[in-house]
Amino acid sequence: MENYILEMKNISKKFSHIKALDKVNLKVSKGEIHALCGENGAGKSTLMKILSGVYPHKTYDGDIIINGEIKKFHSVRDSEKAHISIIYQELALVRDITVAENIFLGKLKAKCGIVNWNKIYAESKNILDEMEISINLSKNVKDIGIGQQQLIEIAKALILNSDILILDEPTAALTKNETKILMNILMGLKSKGVTCILITHKLDEVFDISDRISILRDGSIVSSFKTSETNENEIIKHMVGRELTQRYPNSTRICKESKFKVSNFSFVDHNENTLVSDINFEVRSGEIVGISGLMGAGRTELISSIFGFMKGKSKGDIYLDGKKINIKCPKDAINFGIAMLNEDRKQYGLILEQSISNNISISSLSLFSTLGVLNKDKEYKDTVLYSEEIGVKAPSVSAKVSTLSGGNQQKVLLARCLMTKPKVLFLDEPTRGIDVGAKYEIYVLMNKLASEGTSIIMISSELPEIIGMSDRVLVMREGKIVAQFQKDEVDQEKIMTKSAGGE
Ligand SMILES: Nc1ncnc2c1ncn2[C@@H]1O[C@H](COP(=O)(O)OP(=O)(O)OP(=O)(O)O)[C@@H](O)[C@H]1O
Ligand SMILES: [Mg+2]
Repeated sequence: MENYILEMKNISKKFSHIKALDKVNLKVSKGEIHALCGENGAGKSTLMKILSGVYPHKTYDGDIIINGEIKKFHSVRDSEKAHISIIYQELALVRDITVAENIFLGKLKAKCGIVNWNKIYAESKNILDEMEISINLSKNVKDIGIGQQQLIEIAKALILNSDILILDEPTAALTKNETKILMNILMGLKSKGVTCILITHKLDEVFDISDRISILRDGSIVSSFKTSETNENEIIKHMVGRELTQRYPNSTRICKESKFKVSNFSFVDHNENTLVSDINFEVRSGEIVGISGLMGAGRTELISSIFGFMKGKSKGDIYLDGKKINIKCPKDAINFGIAMLNEDRKQYGLILEQSISNNISISSLSLFSTLGVLNKDKEYKDTVLYSEEIGVKAPSVSAKVSTLSGGNQQKVLLARCLMTKPKVLFLDEPTRGIDVGAKYEIYVLMNKLASEGTSIIMISSELPEIIGMSDRVLVMREGKIVAQFQKDEVDQEKIMTKSAGGE
């Protein structure tokens, strides 16, 4: 008999009348990296929250068996005592305290009421050294990038010396390089006998690193494979329940006149740092322009500063339909018909305790108001349309956004942008955390929007996505556009060379 460190047996979980998990069985062997795959809303995070005590014993049916023994966790503390730790899909760091304090959050030991900060800084440094990353420990978390925040979550889990480490989409916000660091860390842990359960929508990672793959679909485990005995197509087929022969939809749209133009643009933040400079580009009506580049290349800073989102000073000119426009704040941009999907959905986007409907319509309220009176009925009906078109999985648009799975929250934000029927649409990592099937649907929508005349500017760290969707690709490095490729001349190697500063 195989030696399972973990068995989850007949796990069922309901949220009011919605069945999130239905008699799920999962077996994980000691020391393996076990990938858990499935569409948005399939139940992956819920299953792992049960394992880690977020949903305590008695709020679900079935058994958690660790090393042959039934465990009843009443809290996250209980699961930590059983040497299980989890890194959540949504980052759980406290933004206004330092990196070191975050690493030791909840684990601070005070002697006679005095915390030994020197020791905490030394131990934090050790753990980051071990991970081979350097992050300024005394910076507040809100002042470091989202990728680095994710690495700190991992450091937090590592100091617990767990036997089972659960990572719920740890690489969604990481760059290729950071992902590589993480994958090396996981391989190192594996060699020490640590068992990892990894949830990710990035199938290349699954195949690079996992020993076994289990697939959840609509709340049930549908199949489990040894990684070496299966392939991407088979996994996708089990995840979405159908063959997906193409990853990117064909499009026959024609790019027309110049719609949006940025000329000699630069931006300096309030600390006098030049974030972007010498920026010149234009986007035609119906065109999708991809922006590629490494972390810190200034991609997000570029579109956020154009959009009026960042505090600081901009120089240069922006034209819409040939006319010079002046954007001082996001509201100005929206009034000009420019929309933006942010990369950090939790901080800038969603109102978690409000309904899907309210979250979708919030930027388009003028469409539903006459003389200041909101037509609630029309608002509701239109949000249903958008929510369906984009495939948000929820019982109804009245459901609170906080009850949605991570990927479905992302779809709500995208629906909000689309509802404004923008002339120009900025998308920052639009398919982050989205499953392969739903990605395809989003690409179809982007193409549709473009063929109706919208100009789309998309930042993505996934090169296949940039290449698969863009008519033209701009490559950024150190705050500047360093290369430009047409669709028919671009390839991954060229983008990577230019991103890294090569010729
Ligand atoms: N707190 C909650 N209240 C009500 N329903 C919930 C809650 N949390 C999750 N659900 C529902 O349970 C189902 C499973 O969600 P879960 O977050 O586990 O999906 P997931 O597989 O992690 O998806 P994703 O890939 O998008 O992160 C979804 O239908 C979701 O809407
Ligand atoms: Mg999830």
